[in-house]
Amino acid sequence: MYRDTYVGNLDAEAAGTTVTIAGWAARIRDQGGVAFVDLRDASGLVQVVIAPDEVPELVDVARSLKREYCLKIIGDVRARPPGTENLDLPTGAVEVAARTVEVLSTAQPLPFQLDDSIETDEQVRLQYRYLDLRRDRMSRNLKARSRAVAAIHNNLDAAGFMEVETPTLIKSTPEGARDVLVPSRHRQGHFYALPQSPQLFKQLLMVAGVDRYYQIARCYRDEDFRADRQIEFTQLDLEGSFWGQDEVLATIESVVSDAVAAVRGEGLSLPLSQMTYAEAIDRFGSDKPDLRFGMEIADLSDVFAASEFNAFASVVEGGGVVRAINIGESESSRSHLDGIIERAKELGAKGLVWMVVEQDGTIRSPVAKFLESGEMDAIRQALSGELGDVLLLVADEHRRASHVLGQLRLDHGRPDGHDDLSFLWVTDFPVFEVADDGGLAPAHHPFTAPRSVEELRDSPETAVAKAYDLVVNGVELGSGSVRIHDPAVQQEVFDILGIAPEEAHQRFGWFLEALRYGTPPHAGFAFGIDRLVSVLQNEPNIREVMPFPKTQTGFDPLTSSPSPVTEDQLAELGIELRPDAEESLEAHPAG
Ligand code: AMO
Ligand code: AMP
Repeated sequence: MYRDTYVGNLDAEAAGTTVTIAGWAARIRDQGGVAFVDLRDASGLVQVVIAPDEVPELVDVARSLKREYCLKIIGDVRARPPGTENLDLPTGAVEVAARTVEVLSTAQPLPFQLDDSIETDEQVRLQYRYLDLRRDRMSRNLKARSRAVAAIHNNLDAAGFMEVETPTLIKSTPEGARDVLVPSRHRQGHFYALPQSPQLFKQLLMVAGVDRYYQIARCYRDEDFRADRQIEFTQLDLEGSFWGQDEVLATIESVVSDAVAAVRGEGLSLPLSQMTYAEAIDRFGSDKPDLRFGMEIADLSDVFAASEFNAFASVVEGGGVVRAINIGESESSRSHLDGIIERAKELGAKGLVWMVVEQDGTIRSPVAKFLESGEMDAIRQALSGELGDVLLLVADEHRRASHVLGQLRLDHGRPDGHDDLSFLWVTDFPVFEVADDGGLAPAHHPFTAPRSVEELRDSPETAVAKAYDLVVNGVELGSGSVRIHDPAVQQEVFDILGIAPEEAHQRFGWFLEALRYGTPPHAGFAFGIDRLVSVLQNEPNIREVMPFPKTQTGFDPLTSSPSPVTEDQLAELGIELRPDAEESLEAHPAG
């Protein structure tokens, strides 16, 4: 028997008992031959005293112990001497006086200290992830994730959802990102794609009569890495038939609330608030507004339309707008404000005008000379400008001005950490957005139903979709939509996207075919489990809540993956490397 209790159970009540415990030596202090060992197991930490003056057989082992040795200890639980209790530690009232210490396995000197208060290079942490995960912070994250997932399963099971697995080797389908491809050996030159999401399979399940589907699904997208993006990630994916937006939202709210309660101890107050996409862009310059702070965008177009400041007046005359935020009392040195102008330009603004509200209520600004006092008053009023406040103004078309100010708002207003949770539904997304090449691309995915087919036909650029996002603290947690269940409408969307009928047939023929067999109206949603848990755990990025994530460049330093494969493996797949791939191999021989 390795143990009869977890160390985390040892409190004052356990004093007087003899226990067998097993774990790792997290810290070892030697005080005149007496070794104090903090023994850590999955439940916590307890102080063990190895005192050769009391138990002479322990003299050798007390001297031999090193950090992270794996130990089995039999000892007597006793109250710590008065004054030596550790109130920070749940087991801090007691210690275990060792009778026997068995070294179950030794540990090499550690590549880094397993201490939450020490910042270690992420590359090293990931290379030794199995040590990194021993840290308290990481083990808490793993536990939180497990509890959240269990709560999701319980909620959906009780609500009558059926868990169905969908394949991970599928045909390439369009979800907006680049596919991860897997070569086929049996059909050389042919490739599977790993799913960017189970989107089309869950829709097929609706055709199949599954009614209420869910899955904790692994998804793969070869996109640029960011704090909240990995090549491989996990979604809670769900779908239902004879279902509409209101029911999807209510189900997701209840699931998320249960997951939050499982991690934070308290659920959400429901229903969550909602805002349309148009309102979110207008007030906060973002389709995922962070509502933990105000700093709303105000419109100053009317003030400037009639002003002497031509740069702005002409933008308004040309159909544009002048919009602004008040970033509050803030540094107002010239160089600091110049930095904000640079940042605005990086974000796509043509320029930025700053204004500082001075002691006497007047406005200091490079453009002040063009403004009458009534105009200055109107600006201050629109932005509730108080003494010392810095106002940032941008003139442009509505979308660009709002976007730039939305980003500046985050730069200057976003609270550190995110203990508070601010959830929000954003509804009524557009069906399409303008892509980089000027053409239309799906704002969500091409299977999303428009609010009205007439609107889709008459003005596709502005048509509104039955699509909704769930946002928390400015992070897009999840997305969903009511789906198109009429193959003719689906074909119309492909037409607008410029996917010719033959191409649509070749890429999605199998799916369009399925829609022709009595497809029920259906709707669904998916949210990122990694993103949810990282927000709940106040972690700055999703890697901290993923057991074995990749680095920002998609590399796994633990296993050195991706890595080269043998000539034989390639030959079997009918693959020959191009010269640039050969060069890359020489540059990274190990992987
Ligand atoms: P969408 O593409 O918006 O919708 O993805 C849903 C959610 O998945 C998470 N997510 C990611 N998490 C980590 N790394 C990534 N690279 C990544 N990409 C997405 C986000 C996101 O909100 N099939 C549709 C859903 C539906 O319509 O039902 C879909 O996948 O949290
Ligand atoms: P100009 O008249 O071009 O010299 O610009 C005067 C001030 O207005 C400068 O500080 C510019 O950065 C700023 N500016 C010009 N165009 C815009 C714009 N579209 N949005 C915000 N600021 C602008």
